[in-house]
Amino acid sequence: MLFPRFAVIAATAIGFAGSAKAAPVTAASLAVRATLCASPSGDAGTYSQPCDTYAQTINCPNGIRNATAGVVLLVHGTGSTGPETWDNGPYIQLLPNAGPGFDVCKITLPGRSLGDVQTTSEYVAFAIQQLAAQSQTGKVGIVSHSQGGLNVQWALDFWPSYRPLVSAFVALAGDFHGTGEGPPACLVLDATTGGCDPSVIQQSVGSNFLNALNSRGGVALVPTTSIYTIFDDVIQPELIPATTLLSGATNVRLQDYCGPGYLVDHFVIPFASFAYAVAVDALTRQSTAQPDSVPKTSCAWLLDDVLLNNFRRGPTILREAVTDASAVITGPKVLEEPPLKPYVCARGDATTGCA
Ligand SMILES: *[C@@H]1O[C@H](CO)[C@@H](O)[C@H](O)[C@H]1NC(C)=O
Repeated sequence: MLFPRFAVIAATAIGFAGSAKAAPVTAASLAVRATLCASPSGDAGTYSQPCDTYAQTINCPNGIRNATAGVVLLVHGTGSTGPETWDNGPYIQLLPNAGPGFDVCKITLPGRSLGDVQTTSEYVAFAIQQLAAQSQTGKVGIVSHSQGGLNVQWALDFWPSYRPLVSAFVALAGDFHGTGEGPPACLVLDATTGGCDPSVIQQSVGSNFLNALNSRGGVALVPTTSIYTIFDDVIQPELIPATTLLSGATNVRLQDYCGPGYLVDHFVIPFASFAYAVAVDALTRQSTAQPDSVPKTSCAWLLDDVLLNNFRRGPTILREAVTDASAVITGPKVLEEPPLKPYVCARGDATTGCA
């Protein structure tokens, strides 16, 4: 049942990976190289693809209609796609008409975001500047899930000129300091599929990627709200210290507001009512959220049955998609972490793991 969708994704991933392989040098390939997307001068980050490649991954279901509060970019996590993470939930279905009104756009990162996080972060960096330029406010709000938070943080770290373009960044279950569950998951994959997904290795505590990011990007770089749940079943630890705690951010533990029985896990958080209400607060303020000002009635959905039932199905759809993605080989498996890009080491953010 899921096969056709995976076939499309796999083909996309192969095409994407294939462009990096050594190919015969032709006039056409030189022309492609000549049109690689350009970063603003002064930013360390460099693009490896033409701008069109990035632009094609952005989808704004209602178009951009000059909504008062500007454009919001949704960034999915590991193993998923933009539609799988967001379409059945409140950020697509309610946010356009929330508060002053938003233009909502989602991105689908290549290869289900299982490949090199440095590369998928290029797509997020591009989307930030592209959508800010089309936004009524001249800025974008961002909502991320899981690894999406790392993609955003990496983009802001290495493309610092984009930071003023972000009004509010809301991370749902972002594993800013990595997860302890990566290495065991990789060991199982190493034994069964001959390797591990690059992004899973990079999200493991102690990876070269995380060390490089945290050398400067381990703090909030724009007004940031980091929302998490103690019942997260994917990223751990979420108790002491929580991997989602980001210095300088407004950190929101859902159970502090909705009680210890607020049973939200990693795949429910994109559908959780209080998390959504806090996100709307941040996006409306175009700053960090003030969670104490969010009514406690937001701990439950008070919506008509149609929406409620839709949101109830959402976590199951998302969980199954991610589980299937990790079972199917969607991209090349590796035994070692991908090397850090030359721009990371050139800026002095790492001395080990360099290309
Ligand atoms: C949004 O604003 C721009 C610039 O003022 C204008 O060109 C465009 O037509 C507007 N779009 C819509 C959908 O109103």
